Amino acid sequence: MSQKSSQNAAAPLSNELDMSAYWMPFTANRQFKANPRVLVEAQGMHYTAMDGRKVLDGVAGLWCVNAGHGRREIAEAVERQLLTMDYATAFQIGHPGAFELAARIARIAPEGLDRVFFANSGSEAVESALKIALAYHHARGQAQRTRFVGREKGYHGCNFGGMSVGGLVNNRRAFGALLPYVDYLPHTLDIKRNAFTKGQPEHGAELADALEGIIALHGADTIAGVIVEPMSGSAGVILPPKGYLERLRAICDRHGLLLIFDEVITGFGRMGAAFASQALGVTPDIFTVAKGITNGAIPMGAAIAKREIHDAIMQGPEHVIELFHGYTYSGHPVACAAGLATLDIYESEGLFERAAALAPVWEEAVHSLKGEPHVVDIRNTGIVAGMELEPRADGAGKRAFDVYQDCFANGVLVRQGGEIIALSPPLIVTESQVGEIVDALRNALRRVA
Ligand SMILES: Cc1ncc(COP(=O)(O)O)c(C=O)c1O
Repeated sequence: MSQKSSQNAAAPLSNELDMSAYWMPFTANRQFKANPRVLVEAQGMHYTAMDGRKVLDGVAGLWCVNAGHGRREIAEAVERQLLTMDYATAFQIGHPGAFELAARIARIAPEGLDRVFFANSGSEAVESALKIALAYHHARGQAQRTRFVGREKGYHGCNFGGMSVGGLVNNRRAFGALLPYVDYLPHTLDIKRNAFTKGQPEHGAELADALEGIIALHGADTIAGVIVEPMSGSAGVILPPKGYLERLRAICDRHGLLLIFDEVITGFGRMGAAFASQALGVTPDIFTVAKGITNGAIPMGAAIAKREIHDAIMQGPEHVIELFHGYTYSGHPVACAAGLATLDIYESEGLFERAAALAPVWEEAVHSLKGEPHVVDIRNTGIVAGMELEPRADGAGKRAFDVYQDCFANGVLVRQGGEIIALSPPLIVTESQVGEIVDALRNALRRVA
């Protein structure tokens, strides 16, 4: 590709794109560069691929473009903010957008969780949440509470804290010893007992009791908190069994542990409510968000804490910083502008309610794939679904990757991780587009041996 066209996304694209310099994240780089999939435009529910084909977005970008692509209101808010004030430090200085966005998030968050700490990604939101939990105990004279409890198959981003409390082996094995003092709950995926359950599975609430064992081993007074995704997204849409989160909540309360929900995927309507905690009826002490906070348009994340956690940390001489944590781009004015415009869209178009109303149609559609070749489980909630395939002898995840490629070649973007295909389209998806996504998968399953 010429220098000129590489600087201008709207310029005609050739097939001569030099792909060697870009080290792609979470990508099979060699496979990709031999067989590239390149997107150049996005509008509504569709991408346009480099070869001009339309591709239906079955994953909202990466679980983030909840209001659909190319939203003019967000673009205009971003442009306005860039021209009004592009940047101001967030350290010892404020700007109106950050206060407004924090207040708007607090208004839709579960009651009592109304202190918002901004970061720039889900990974940073998780680091912030873990550090707030430690600082809270420290401020209350319990600095010995330094342990965390994560969960097998958990994904909390790829920075060192999140990686350490996460439980996906591929994300950990190359990176050394990680944080000390982390224990893990068992994951709740139980295909034998729960296969093809619609919504929350019946079996497995007792898995939460493993927390009592960890507490008995170390002593509650050494543990800062427990972090889980209310629904595991990256590990393949694993829903909490009925009663499981309630048990975790009760055990944390009994022992003074903070319960942290990582809502980076589940936040902003994905489960048919603003947040999963509301959809599932269990309230954490701290939760994280990112992705849908700006509809994916500008990077942003946040950790949102109960007021008493915030207030406990507000100690010491008034001129001294209370929490030595933050990022150059925390509460970036442009991200805040994008966030406010995004919340306006969610509200004015009733997208969370829309997701809840469409959920039964979605559920029926995705479960219609039961019985297709090699499908061993289908899981769903809100506008999200995971389909687990039988592994093939030629390699872990190979069959699912072939299905993913087949879908893309036939105009539908899905997500593949291991043996799982995940679906999470923008919440503006129509019933007929739900049908298109499911048909593409059905055809792919039948074609891929
Ligand atoms: C639950 C959860 N936490 C954290 C992250 C990390 O977010 P980011 O990629 O924005 O750092 C993700 C990303 O998918 C996630 O699903």
